Order: sequence, then structure tokens, then C-alpha cells
Amino acid sequence: MKNRHQEGEVLSLILNKISALNQLQDVNTILNATLSEARSLTRADAGSIFLVQDGQLEFRHVQNDTLFGKKDAGAALYRNVSIPISEDSIVGFSALTKEIVAIDDVYNISSDVPYKFNESLDRRNNYHTTSILTVPLVSLDNRCLVGVVQLINAQDEQGRVTRFSEQSKIWVRVFSNNAAAIIERSMLNHELILRMVKMAELHDPGETGAHVQRVSAYSVEIYRCWAKKRKIPQDEIIKYCDLLSRAALLHDAGKVGIPDAILKKPGPLTAEEFEEMKLHTVSGAALFVNISSELDQMTHDIVLHHHERWNGRGYPGRLVQEGEQWVRKPLAGKDIPFAARIVALADVFDALSSQRSYKPPWDDEKIYNEIRKDSGEYFDPELVEAFFEITDILHAIQKKFR
Ligand SMILES: [Fe+2]
Ligand SMILES: [Fe+2]
Repeated sequence: MKNRHQEGEVLSLILNKISALNQLQDVNTILNATLSEARSLTRADAGSIFLVQDGQLEFRHVQNDTLFGKKDAGAALYRNVSIPISEDSIVGFSALTKEIVAIDDVYNISSDVPYKFNESLDRRNNYHTTSILTVPLVSLDNRCLVGVVQLINAQDEQGRVTRFSEQSKIWVRVFSNNAAAIIERSMLNHELILRMVKMAELHDPGETGAHVQRVSAYSVEIYRCWAKKRKIPQDEIIKYCDLLSRAALLHDAGKVGIPDAILKKPGPLTAEEFEEMKLHTVSGAALFVNISSELDQMTHDIVLHHHERWNGRGYPGRLVQEGEQWVRKPLAGKDIPFAARIVALADVFDALSSQRSYKPPWDDEKIYNEIRKDSGEYFDPELVEAFFEITDILHAIQKKFR
């Protein structure tokens, strides 16, 4: 009777976790939350999550309480690792067979199985893996494999490493089947946004899929560092990152309305052409003017204000009536929407560190000097401070989205 009561409690806990996951939209935020929840259900010390991309398993997230404590994995989150879906590795085997693989001690795996444990990661990180539970993320409706979640070192009530219990295997299976459907939906949304970016790319070769993904990832990491320093509650951070990572992808959506003669001009723009170029903020924001969600609101703010400057010398500002005329007055300081201030820094950092038709990529020292010089002028000084705390993560992002 007591067991049945406990089972009911766990089931309602799982339903709550699934419903919280359902509130999120961004694929990375969902993967991070899926991994956290799967770990808490099984009391796993560590874990990682992989997504199926181009027929391989692409590493997407890692968490490890022993190695990172309560902190994020930082630059390790952006490691570029892909594992074949094959019998050779534990995650590959689980993906291939769509079966759970539970191992009590990875250093004593039976010789009957085709896969091996890769000890090099343990050696590199000075970590000791014992028990592993590898769960395929298979969506309930069409049995489609979305990815794999790997949980490492289950712990008992005293924090000692133990094997994964039979009960926890059932719980994590129920949770992961539902999570897979949510991940699948978020991937479709992400692809849709990237397809819009690809359409813009045909018109503006400078605004590539890789550029917008970098700007989005830089923005999220700058915000996360800023928010943690200010002890913003974790729920709020997750929600903000969920919106920011998608909204930032569309920061230059308005460039589709700029004529080719201006956008693709190899030399510098005339004053008149530059005035027309500035309108990409206004015409882009018009796409999000019927605000029906927080995402629309944030995207609108970013698109309209990502060229404003902290000192009030950016564009386009607000329309203000002066006598008979309406004129644009740039915004300054905290009047500039916060998300737009973040993307402004991320976008300029990416422009400086990338090759453009008119310049080679700048080296780190030159970029850092420029950004330091522009703190309090072009950029919000608090965000510049956060930027300099995470330069290792920014480099890892650069490498991941070349
Ligand atoms: Fe722009
Ligand atoms: Fe951009």
C-alpha cells in the first residue's frame, strides 16, 4: 500500500516535470532541462545529452555535480563532438537498438556485448564513472529517435555511488518518451526560424546561419553570467534564455527589405544609402508589431533597437513629435530594452571576430581593446563586465558554429 502511494507521488512528480518542460520552447533550454530532470529522477551525479543530427549523435549538454558543482559546464557545453550510431559505443548502441542500456560498473562490462566504455574521458577529467543508464529519446507517436540521454553514477541516500534501480529505469523511460516529443517539436520550430534566416542569407551573404547562431549563443551566455552575478532566480534565468536564444536569431530580419545595391555594395555606403540601411530596424520590427506573446515582444525590441548605443548615439530611437514634424530620437542607457543591449554587444563582437568583405577577422587583443574602450559608450558597462568573464565560453561558441 505504501509503495503504491509512493508510486503515485512519483508519477505526479513526473507529470509536473513534463508540464514544466512543455512551457519551454527553445531546443537548448529544453535539452538542458530534460537532462536535469532525468538526473534528479534517478539521483545521477552526472549526465550528458545527444541529439540526432545528420545520422550521428551530436553532443549537446553535459552536467556533472562532482566536477562543476552547481555551476554550468561553461565552455564544455559547446564541445564539438559527434558519435556514430553504431554498436561500438554505449550511446551509439542505445540509439541503434532504441533500447535502454544499464551498466552497473563500466570497468567490468561483460565481454558478450559489442560496445566498450571510453575511459579516456574519465582520465581527462579526473572522474570515475561506475554506473551508467543510457536512455534513447524516442517520441511516443512515431517511434522516431530524437537523441540519447546518458546518466552517470546513481547515488544512494548517503551520496554513495550505486547502480540504477529497476524503478528508476521505468520512471526515466516514461519521462524521456514525453520529453522526446517536446524536443522534437522545439527542433521543428528551430529549423523553421533557421529557414527564415537562410532565406535572408540568399539576399545578404553577411547574415549567415552560423552568424545568427553565434550571436544567439553569445547573447545567452552574456545574459546568464550577468544574471548569476545578480543572483536572479534560476527559473527566471531559464525563462529569459528560452526567449532570448530564439529572439536573437532574428535580429537582422529587416535586412530582407534593403535593396541589393546597398546590401551588397563592396565599398563604403554614401550618407543617403546609410540612412536607408538604418531602416532595417524599423521594417524588421514591423514583422513583430502584432505582439501576441513574450517572444514577439522581445524579438520586436531586439530587431528595432539592436543598433542603439548606451551613450544615445545609435539608431533608430523613438519617433517624437517636434512642432509639425516627427523626428527620431535615439534611446540611451537603460531606456534601451535590455535584450537589445545584450544583442548589440554580441552582434558587434561577432562582426569584429569574423571575416567581412571589407575586413579580415580581428585578433583577440584588438577586439578586447575595442570593446573595453566602448564600455559605457557603445555598450552597457555591466554587460561588458560579464563579457570579459566568459571569454573562454565565447571562444568555444566561435569554434562550434564556424
Ligand atoms: Fe542590424
Ligand atoms: Fe547581425
